[in-house]
Amino acid sequence: MSAHENHGEPEIRVLGTEQELRQAMALFRTAMVGLPPGPDYPEGRMGDYLEEGRTLGAFLDGALVGTVDATSGFLVLPGGARVPHAGVTHIGVLPTHTRRGVVTSLVRHQLRAAQDRGDVVASLRASEATIYGRFGYGIASMSTTLEVDTHRAVLHPNVTEGGPVRFAQDSEVWDLLERIYSEHATDRPGRIERTSYWWASQRFRFSAVSGPVYVAVHGNAGAEDGFVRYRPENTGEWFGGRERTIVVSDFFAPTAESHAGLVRFLLSLDLVDRIVFDGVPADDPLPWMLTDHRGARVASVSDETWLRILDVRRALEARSFVGAGRVRIAVTDPVFAENTAVFEISADGVSTSSDPAHLELGIAELGSLMLGGVGCHALAGAGRITVHDGAALPVADALFTWPVAPFAGTMF
Ligand SMILES: CC(C)(COP(=O)(O)OP(=O)(O)OC[C@H]1O[C@@H](n2cnc3c(N)ncnc32)[C@H](O)[C@@H]1OP(=O)(O)O)[C@@H](O)C(=O)NCCC(=O)NCCS
Repeated sequence: MSAHENHGEPEIRVLGTEQELRQAMALFRTAMVGLPPGPDYPEGRMGDYLEEGRTLGAFLDGALVGTVDATSGFLVLPGGARVPHAGVTHIGVLPTHTRRGVVTSLVRHQLRAAQDRGDVVASLRASEATIYGRFGYGIASMSTTLEVDTHRAVLHPNVTEGGPVRFAQDSEVWDLLERIYSEHATDRPGRIERTSYWWASQRFRFSAVSGPVYVAVHGNAGAEDGFVRYRPENTGEWFGGRERTIVVSDFFAPTAESHAGLVRFLLSLDLVDRIVFDGVPADDPLPWMLTDHRGARVASVSDETWLRILDVRRALEARSFVGAGRVRIAVTDPVFAENTAVFEISADGVSTSSDPAHLELGIAELGSLMLGGVGCHALAGAGRITVHDGAALPVADALFTWPVAPFAGTMF
């Protein structure tokens, strides 16, 4: 008997009142144990941070014991199509009520509600990599942390000059960043919308940050096209420090010009020995921009987007496939019966099929493949794709992988 069976099913419902939403956010912080202290949400403004109708609460004996919420937006698939996306966050269960199925009920309810409203995919960022596979989420993009030793970082002569860089004024900063981000939509798979709720949360969190945070923008006034947010580490030892480090927490450089301009600017900062780019795509050109490739070091690579496909047919039809040949994959989804089917895939399109499949995989594994960042051979090697026809594996590899590494670049 599993632990779940000892307890009644929690009642799941949408939280609506200001007080309930505050209680849910407090519960989330208690569940997360060690988040840095933050300010109190301003009175009467919870609707700025949480989208109406998308915050769920789980109740046992009338008491709120768990929560999850989501915001609506889009996610970019290989080829540039934007599909409706639920950005899932704030998953927490009171530590006194864990391991009795509360999150299972919440997540199942949320997935159904998202599918009902027409979302094609949902994604989240995971605090632990062991929780969400069981709900059909698969790792679909990775985030790379690059460390640059500024003393070795001489730019290659072919690197473009880039445009002007200036500091954003406090009074304009958030509106300006929001505008730059929304006006420069790239087709990188995995990119998601930064919703008004996301920006409101950023403003709110940073309003309480003590210590210096700098925001520099690239481009001519009125036509800015990139930005960087950075802060120094160890300010207590900064004055006479030997390894002065800045951490770039948000690097939005959608064009080669803005990328080069912002990198040039960061490398020109006096006093700085080390620049940590905390979250760039695996194919960021930065190391290739240096005459000494070892001037940039991959400090870590970690899972970023966990993707849950809610509607397999729409997701497959929306993304592009390149390469020759065709492959039939049998997908199994224990939650949504209509996703369990054999799909025939080629660069010409996707259809369901009654012929036997070459490859067989679960919904989480298809989520991992969907943005083109992992090869079928890797998942087959791990036993997570069952191969019925070995000749189909390289065909599927070519069809599913994508030349641009998937990356969202937005933590939520
Ligand atoms: C992670 C968390 C939400 C899980 O909630 P929960 O109500 O205890 O989960 P459930 O009881 O529904 O567990 C479902 C299954 O997941 C497993 N599981 C739950 N949390 C897990 C964890 N942290 N690591 C590994 N497995 C976990 C359970 O063992 C259970 O497995 P089973 O079905 O084989 O028995 C909860 O523990 C929590 O709030 N943790 C702290 C906050 C956090 O990490 N939030 C996630 C932010 S991304």
